[in-house]
Amino acid sequence: MQRPPTQAEWIQISEAETIPPREGRAVQVGALNVALFNMGDRFLALENRCPHQGGPLAEGMVGGTTVTCPVHGWRVCLETGLVTKPCVEGTPQVRTFSVQVRDGLVMLNLASSKVAA
Ligand code: FES
Repeated sequence: MQRPPTQAEWIQISEAETIPPREGRAVQVGALNVALFNMGDRFLALENRCPHQGGPLAEGMVGGTTVTCPVHGWRVCLETGLVTKPCVEGTPQVRTFSVQVRDGLVMLNLASSKVAA
């Protein structure tokens, strides 16, 4: 069972208003490159690396709750990190992270890193 993140594990990333709705931004947090997406009613984050050949997911087109990799068109679910197209056995996946908006600031929690089961 995964424990809930502590207050100290949240990192301030950016002002929420700097990321337009339905767009992503790449943010570097230490050694990790994270793709942060403004879904309009919430923010979602996942590792900014397509599981196919490493394409920058933050630059992909958002449709519903998936992003289409700009390199070869694989689709990745922004909520789970699972590849939804192509559907292959042993579906590759991308790590996801918890995001909160507090007082207009986007906060990221790397300790909440998750890979869907
Ligand atoms: S690198 Fe993303 S689909 Fe090929």
